[in-house]
Amino acid sequence: AAVVEHTFVVHEMNQTHLCNTTKIYVVNGQLPGPTIDITDGDTVVVHVINRLPHGLTIHWHGIRQMRSCWSDGAGFVTECPIPPGGEHVYRFNVTGQVGTLWWHAHVTCLRATVAGAFIIRPKGGRYPFPTPAKDVPIIIGEWWELDLVELDRRMHDGNFDDNPLSATINGKLGDLSNCSGKPEESFVLDVVRGKTYLLRIVNTALFSEYYFKVAGHTFTVVGADGYYLTPYKTDMVTVAPGEAIDVLMAADAPPAHYHMVALANQPPEPDPQIPGFVSRGLVRYAGSSHNNNGLPVPTPLMPSQHNTMPSYYFHSNLTGLAHPDRHRVPMHVDERLFFALGLGSICRGTNKTCERGRSPETIVVATMNNVSFRHPTNASLLERYYDGQTSGLYTEDLPDHPPHPYNYTDRSLIPPGPLEKALEPTFKATKLRRFRYNTSVEIIFQSTALLQSDSNPMHLHGYDFFVLATGLGNYNPKTDPEKFNYHNPQLRNTVQVPRTGWAAVRFVTDNPGMWYLHCHFEFHIIMGMATAFIVENGPTPETSLPPPPPEFKRCGANGLTHL
Ligand code: C2O
Repeated sequence: AAVVEHTFVVHEMNQTHLCNTTKIYVVNGQLPGPTIDITDGDTVVVHVINRLPHGLTIHWHGIRQMRSCWSDGAGFVTECPIPPGGEHVYRFNVTGQVGTLWWHAHVTCLRATVAGAFIIRPKGGRYPFPTPAKDVPIIIGEWWELDLVELDRRMHDGNFDDNPLSATINGKLGDLSNCSGKPEESFVLDVVRGKTYLLRIVNTALFSEYYFKVAGHTFTVVGADGYYLTPYKTDMVTVAPGEAIDVLMAADAPPAHYHMVALANQPPEPDPQIPGFVSRGLVRYAGSSHNNNGLPVPTPLMPSQHNTMPSYYFHSNLTGLAHPDRHRVPMHVDERLFFALGLGSICRGTNKTCERGRSPETIVVATMNNVSFRHPTNASLLERYYDGQTSGLYTEDLPDHPPHPYNYTDRSLIPPGPLEKALEPTFKATKLRRFRYNTSVEIIFQSTALLQSDSNPMHLHGYDFFVLATGLGNYNPKTDPEKFNYHNPQLRNTVQVPRTGWAAVRFVTDNPGMWYLHCHFEFHIIMGMATAFIVENGPTPETSLPPPPPEFKRCGANGLTHL
């Protein structure tokens, strides 16, 4: 196994799109950021140099970080941000994962541009499918004209009115966007007829799930989140924020030009304020004529952007490919959790609940079991955990169930009028959940009709969970377990909980440390749909979190903050 080293200089840069120049945040001048490309078993060392005027962390999304929790890069969860002008070294080993993951900044909204692909190749190049001619990261993102730090500030103020201007594929807006008649550049994929390409599709967008298609071509889905899948043929991929989906695309069409399209899916009730976010790229066959022989370039037929069902079908059709023994589905459950993903109301500027429906100062927050997560801002959870001084920073009493079960998914039960008046009062608190080592945990994520538009891509750091089933409506603990797939479920770090539906996942707590759990929609994180899991040490040194290495970044006595 090799040691793969990178240096990431993170800096500001101006970029012009749609006739406006915006300041963005990038790594080494690249958008998307550099691809990390390793082989299963390698050790990765990344020197991060922060040239931004504010704090920064980088998270290695989906990397298990076995017993190296401090390298996880979750700001104020596992480390204090790298201060402006500061440097930091992330060092970790990757073993037993293969396929595509990604990396991204994990403070404020910087991950919209500070992000890139993380490719893990199988040992000896042994794929369970014919070796592709070429690997192509397809990073689906968004172009924001608004400064991302300012966007974060506005959302923290309860203002969620801002939207990106366009979707992007590998940083390109595509020719459907233009200003003064000048189309934007498109991402172009050059192919040779007869060859097969491995598209590594990652959604780095802050706000939307995306549908992705290429006209005249089909895909075979072969992996997701760093594990192989049973090959699944489809003409459309859906990818939620946080997910990475690997597909093979055979270049088997008549040599010509074909459009590819990434289209955001949107709330079911069209909102005139929110245009469709779309980026169009091109697949270009070698030897095809540059004007497509005078014929129009075929464009894929996309589903309605207000239809979320194709996402549900796509995700529920995926199964895992023969997991190695150490990835057995846990058949017994030690701890059962039920997380209702909802909304609640608090009083602006205080930590108190307003009397229901009374105050004009009532604002909406996101909740899990009616608790809205307060993100620490002056010390990291891991630092306090190591020090055994948790008081004032966090408690370990996140409820396992919502305070009162209700009909989660019937929209007609929501009283008419402004949403904040209809919501249950809640509060903000940093409530965590602690597990003993080697506990088999089942979580049912239940989305609720309060979040009318949204599915919830729930992401757990430091772990992969088996997705045993997903369904629409309210989870039924009597009948739904009959649908659980114990045979070949997907192993994922992010599960797309369907809109007004549920997802059942299981995992065993074999990785001690502090692990963030959150929805990967940025506004849901900011609104408080998050928690962290503490996993205690096991009985031996090999099952315990070692003391932190010298590079572990504490916030220090005076509570360093620089956001
Ligand atoms: Cu991809 Cu906590 O993040």
